[in-house]
Amino acid sequence: MNLKSALSALLIGVTASVGVAHAQTVALKVETDKPGAKIDRQLFGQFAEHLGRGVYEGVWVGPDSPIPNTRGIRNDVVAALKDLRVPNVRWPGGCFADEYHWRNGIGPLKDRPATLNPNWGGVIEPNTFGTHEFMDFVQQIGAEAYISVNVGSGTPHEAADWFEYMTTAQPTALAKQRAANGHPEPYGISFMGIGNESWGCGGSMTPEEYAAQLRIYARYTRNYNADHPTLKIAVGPDSANTGYTEAVMKAWKERNWSWDIDGLSLHYYTVGAGWPPKFAATGFGEQEYATLINYTLRMNELLATHGAIMDKYDPEKKIALVVDEWGAWLAPTPGSKEGFLEQQNSVRDAIIAALNINIFARHADRVRMANIAQMVNVLQAMILTDQDKLVLTPSYHVFHMYVPFQDATFLPVTFDAGAYANGDIKLPKVDAIAAKGKDGKTWLALTNIDPTAPVQFELTTRAKRAAGKILSAPKIDSVNTFAAPATVAPKSFEARSSGNKIALKLPPHSVAVIALED
Ligand code: AHR
Repeated sequence: MNLKSALSALLIGVTASVGVAHAQTVALKVETDKPGAKIDRQLFGQFAEHLGRGVYEGVWVGPDSPIPNTRGIRNDVVAALKDLRVPNVRWPGGCFADEYHWRNGIGPLKDRPATLNPNWGGVIEPNTFGTHEFMDFVQQIGAEAYISVNVGSGTPHEAADWFEYMTTAQPTALAKQRAANGHPEPYGISFMGIGNESWGCGGSMTPEEYAAQLRIYARYTRNYNADHPTLKIAVGPDSANTGYTEAVMKAWKERNWSWDIDGLSLHYYTVGAGWPPKFAATGFGEQEYATLINYTLRMNELLATHGAIMDKYDPEKKIALVVDEWGAWLAPTPGSKEGFLEQQNSVRDAIIAALNINIFARHADRVRMANIAQMVNVLQAMILTDQDKLVLTPSYHVFHMYVPFQDATFLPVTFDAGAYANGDIKLPKVDAIAAKGKDGKTWLALTNIDPTAPVQFELTTRAKRAAGKILSAPKIDSVNTFAAPATVAPKSFEARSSGNKIALKLPPHSVAVIALED
């Protein structure tokens, strides 16, 4: 045996010993001549609630902190989020928004009252991160502001004053107060959420009760900054529940000149069966993996169901369906504080993120905005922090890899890969979307859902080269930690065409985003 054959025998041995299953070949074609809707960049929005260590520690450390910061906002978190091109951040909640009184969060830090955060651990809310700090933060990361006003325990007057305070250029008492607090220029607020989960923590209102509140808040909470329009988003359905969808869309259809909205919110989390969430973030097996992927894919039928109701009242699709809370909600990290909703983030989360984004892209004509819950240290986070340390999660890497899909034009993809089965659960083996990017390139996002076998894509294309990143890891529950921050990290890869075909091999449980180039 010569050296070459000895080496290949060794390689075959290694391959066999790790038990890599045979890669199924999947033919795939991008229909470049059938462009669809724009995949709105706002679909890649984030959510930062005053919850656990999401805002305090995760974003705000205060100007006197030894952690490097700019006016109290951590520099490392800002740098990481800038790379994600975050389009918008939803704040201050969540359930917190319906107990938030904005006046507590303005003026000199030393004068701000300590209040309570009864929803999330009953901790003290120091109010040191308020309107000006939030606006500073979104400006530092280059995002737009999505502010949820308090409908549950506030008043229309309080919400109207907040928007006047933030947006008027006229020398009103509130504008002068804003100037005295350091911001003479009016702010531009792109999105206003009128309440949060008014069917639950936001006041347990019936759909009709909420519709009555909506008319009042949508009328009186005004944006006065003519240079920066504000889109208004109403509370909508909880998962499959259609009561709010019908009632709010009917109210909108029957509206008079005095009020209007631009969006209807939907909340749907990947929880698995039962409440409270009990699926572990790490140390899970293939069955738990398959179960949660299955729950994730329900997003598709939810968007179809609510979209069909919206079509009845709004065939022109003027009102956007805004999925402003989504993601995996798992059992909390053992030992973490109750109510802080801290959880690790694994390769499974990366796949959950990719599949949700793919589903939003397929419904992009109606679904034009979304916010993953939540940005830092809470639920399916982009970033985890511990004191001065920071780690980027697998979900972060998916959002980063998908940046070229922001404002790209959807292109249909044809493929038939068959199913991956686990017990009674049958899932598609792979998922794929494509789009024409603003850079003129054709972009492909491929997910190998199968946790047991690689897949070999055979792409029919005129392109000469495919280049991009693959996110993969040894196990379905591989995570990044402060000690090992790059266990799940994207790797570059490139493939060249042969004839009119390009072959792309994806390992089990992996996500790839690639550009096709001539
Ligand atoms: O994201 C955590 C919580 O989930 C939000 O505060 C609430 O809106 C939802 O129930």
